[in-house]
Amino acid sequence: MTTFAIEDFAAGCKRVMDQASNQKEAARAYLAEAVARCGPLEIMRALQAAVPPDANIGELIVHASPELTMLYARVPARFQSGIHDHTVSAVIAQLEGQEVNHIFERDAAGSLEEARAITVRSGEILTLDKDVIHCIENPGDAPAHALHLYQGDFGALSERRSLWSWGAHQQKPFSFPELLQESATAMHQSGNRSGLNALVKAIPASKALIDALPE
Ligand SMILES: [Fe+2]
Repeated sequence: MTTFAIEDFAAGCKRVMDQASNQKEAARAYLAEAVARCGPLEIMRALQAAVPPDANIGELIVHASPELTMLYARVPARFQSGIHDHTVSAVIAQLEGQEVNHIFERDAAGSLEEARAITVRSGEILTLDKDVIHCIENPGDAPAHALHLYQGDFGALSERRSLWSWGAHQQKPFSFPELLQESATAMHQSGNRSGLNALVKAIPASKALIDALPE
């Protein structure tokens, strides 16, 4: 097993994407090779070393450039996210634990409905097309760890992205505070007390918005 170096990976990944006719497939293959060569736990070690120990789930971007964002997805136990898009393709390498991706599609009337759920386990890779609408869930009792690659600069993309309200599926502009709100609502409406408790532990400021949710 070899050491995983974030900036070397980013440079190599951008190089293969630049030379490829299918950038998403090139990024997937490059990430799969890194997982096979370094191992999931070595990649997790490198990601943990790159963020402050108390970084919350909104502060885990370890590389950002116009072509590529690398996000350390450290997902609290039992966490459920709000429904959102990315507007660029994504490649997910699961490092420890599991991540369930609920994929939504529009029905004939244009309303969103869940079409399928895909579980990614440690050592596995999942690719998501740029028009995918999803929410994620950690089904386990411990934090789940993944490396997410996005083909663009997440900060710059933010204003193109959307969120959908839990239940009613009303589309609205994306923002991190709104995503947190919708995630809390999703867990509240699912009766997922452990997920809400883990969220408060990961982001203490989320307690106020959870306390304000209707009974
Ligand atoms: Fe996502």
